[in-house]
Amino acid sequence: MPPSLIEPRTERLVMRAWCGADREPFAVMNADPEVMRYFPAHMTRAESDAFVDRIEGRFAVQGYGLWALEVAATGEFVGFTGLNPMPAGVPGSGGVEVGWRLARSAWGHGYATEAGRAALEVAFGRLGLDEVWSLTAEANAASRAVMSRLGLSHVATQEHPGLAADSPVRLHVFYRITRQEYAGRAATTAMSDRRVCSP
Ligand SMILES: CC(C)(COP(=O)(O)OP(=O)(O)OC[C@H]1O[C@@H](n2cnc3c(N)ncnc32)[C@H](O)[C@@H]1OP(=O)(O)O)[C@@H](O)C(=O)NCCC(=O)NCCS
Repeated sequence: MPPSLIEPRTERLVMRAWCGADREPFAVMNADPEVMRYFPAHMTRAESDAFVDRIEGRFAVQGYGLWALEVAATGEFVGFTGLNPMPAGVPGSGGVEVGWRLARSAWGHGYATEAGRAALEVAFGRLGLDEVWSLTAEANAASRAVMSRLGLSHVATQEHPGLAADSPVRLHVFYRITRQEYAGRAATTAMSDRRVCSP
């Protein structure tokens, strides 16, 4: 039986399984050197489509993954945010990462953080995970800022064994948030909400 699909909705975003129409704008993003600055290379259309095939494969098996992000007000596809297996040979291997890739036009709106928060809610709520990881190239300050805003902490810096030895983005940072840390943050938010709302 196919798994039930998890498709979170946030204040401004629809996080959904992928549609055929997402492939073209996703390929445009993956060919943008600015979007792909901290990856070994930008992607061809075929590589981008193969990536979507893998994402769709995970949705078919588990009902969630790297969700396609749509701006609710306009229906525009702006990239992905979601949950994916951690690569092999790094801190957190065997676990789950939260990750994001947005089109340049969607930067600077808080979308990655908003969607990342919803992804963590799924991870620690419905999926009952004990921890969630994230990784990026050491120099990727924008991605590291999203991790920090979500409450993940930097736990390790090491070379990514899946990248070529001479790759300029081989040095990676690894962030993590545990279930306990996540629960503590949720409690703090609830308390401050109460204070704000009391007469
Ligand atoms: C990593 C990436 C998603 C970060 O994007 P981002 O726009 O900086 O992050 P967010 O979506 O969380 O937006 C935060 C910014 O929006 C601003 N913002 C504007 N309106 C906002 C709102 N209503 N709510 C929250 N933040 C808002 C914030 O102030 C912040 O800007 P600042 O960094 O200048 O302070 C983006 O740079 C990207 O897609 N890069 C290419 C792919 C990549 O490197 N992915 C990670 C590799 S692992």
